[in-house]
Amino acid sequence: MDKLTISQPDDWHLHVRTGSILRTVIAHTARQFGRAIIMPNLKPPVTMVDQALAYRQEILEALPADAAFQPLMTLYLTASTPLDEIKKVADSEFVHAFKLYPAGATTNSDAGVADIEAAFGLFAAMEKYGVPLLIHGEVTDAEHDIFDREKIFIDTKLNKITAQFPALRIVLEHLTTQEAVQFVEAAADNVGATITPQHLLYNRNAILAGGIRPHYYCLPILKREQHRLALLQAATSGNPKFFLGTDSAPHLTSLKENSCGCAGCYSAHAALELYAEAFEQAGKLDKLEGFASFFGADFYGLPRNTATVTLEKSAWQVPDVYGSLDAEITPLRAGEHLPWRLV
Ligand code: DOR
Ligand code: ZN
Repeated sequence: MDKLTISQPDDWHLHVRTGSILRTVIAHTARQFGRAIIMPNLKPPVTMVDQALAYRQEILEALPADAAFQPLMTLYLTASTPLDEIKKVADSEFVHAFKLYPAGATTNSDAGVADIEAAFGLFAAMEKYGVPLLIHGEVTDAEHDIFDREKIFIDTKLNKITAQFPALRIVLEHLTTQEAVQFVEAAADNVGATITPQHLLYNRNAILAGGIRPHYYCLPILKREQHRLALLQAATSGNPKFFLGTDSAPHLTSLKENSCGCAGCYSAHAALELYAEAFEQAGKLDKLEGFASFFGADFYGLPRNTATVTLEKSAWQVPDVYGSLDAEITPLRAGEHLPWRLV
């Protein structure tokens, strides 16, 4: 197949930051996607509806003039989130979910939830009002091996959450393991999951074999090949529980190429092209549209997009960097050729 036209996709997990980084990255997403779920892990985090509305306005102002892109906002859950705020989100046209970061799990997660069981009262309200809870599913205790953090989170935390709140709408974000795939497959229909392009295309060798490659370092970290294969199988299976969420996470090049480099892969410049490459490798390009354009909208109870986008088999070279001197970002696959191009 040399050409593929699908309904316009959405990105159900995206970081766009603020200021000059936002202005550098937002057009990349708006060129491809109709909507995106915007992560709230700013400094300070977006914890209240009013802050989310102000952030939404900043994103709208950073968009190219002709863009029809819609940012779908989220709030950052903390131990002190007021119960009222959950009802406010349920009533809001623009704020769609809460994000749970276990404290210390990743970039700007210090204000996250340290004791997840202490947040059970908040989960009960989300369950009652039908507000989705988006979960970064990793334990953070220093004694756990970084490659086991997702599996241990599922065993020790997520199982308790789904048992106690069977109707809570949950998105387990950026799956990285076979165990996470199995958990989502076995869960009720109100539990879905996003999968990133890097976790479909790469295993942990990409970060470590032949040198340390910081632009492949994200959290949850890339895992062994058996896990990549399980994710690819899930994403291309046509199971509507699995949908597109890039977790595109821009950081300045200087903070990635650093003795303590930040976690996050910048993939928004070529998101759909990267997914197409993975689906083609699996021989399942016919399953891309459901994963990219239908299942996420259905899960969130939003209408499917009516526009279309076309991908062409026509190689192009990814630039070495995007942005200007004050916001230089090195994209995933910098300088390499990608086989698919969005036309
Ligand atoms: O790699 C990551 N980067 N994982 C996350 O969970 C957060 C993200 C970021 O904000 O940079
Ligand atoms: Zn993320």
